[in-house]
Amino acid sequence: MDDGFIDELKALVDQYLKDEVAPYKRDKQGKIIKLFNLFDRNEKFKQLYTLPSIIKPLQSLLGPNIEFLKNRHNHVSVIQKGSNERRFHRDVLHWSRPVISVLIYLQDSDIYNGCTEIIPTSQYLPFVPPYGLPNHAGTWLDEFEVYKGFENQALPVPVRKGDVLIFDTLIFHSPGINLTDEPRYAITAAYHAVDELLPTKCNHHRILVSGKRTYCGNELNWE
Ligand SMILES: [Fe+2]
Repeated sequence: MDDGFIDELKALVDQYLKDEVAPYKRDKQGKIIKLFNLFDRNEKFKQLYTLPSIIKPLQSLLGPNIEFLKNRHNHVSVIQKGSNERRFHRDVLHWSRPVISVLIYLQDSDIYNGCTEIIPTSQYLPFVPPYGLPNHAGTWLDEFEVYKGFENQALPVPVRKGDVLIFDTLIFHSPGINLTDEPRYAITAAYHAVDELLPTKCNHHRILVSGKRTYCGNELNWE
């Protein structure tokens, strides 16, 4: 991805953090660790989320009709110095409606500044139904005894500035621990194929970024 464009995105993130532009989330020490709703903050993020260099690889995984989800990810993760955010998770609760997660890196990332870690093949680990009504998104590995110890199989994914990591959101993943003095940024996104059973009028949190919306509910064939 173009170096100058990445620098512009990083400058925007730096400014939002400096000015504490909501919406965001803080950690227990009061540091901002997420800046939300990038899509509507600035045209440059819209441009990023719809770049052909991101959408084209997704077409090979999802087919021609793709939606960007405004209500899953659509934020920048800020991995602060000494961050204790290392916690493995899937980005959805349930196997029946996974998404594709996309991370875009604004700096070189490695084990020293807490690069992303994944547990290879963990998308195939058994599904565990969530207990009752969870008050959080996703599936957290440390909440289920059946997954105990799998975090020891995690591998770091070092990347260069401007790299894009695309993965099945059912794979357990986490940011690492940032041992440097500089915060590390990862812009996150979620996409999925157009849902052929969801009437198009329900799609206000979804932005069509490729192809068209199709609806194929059975009632279309009722006589
Ligand atoms: Fe995640």
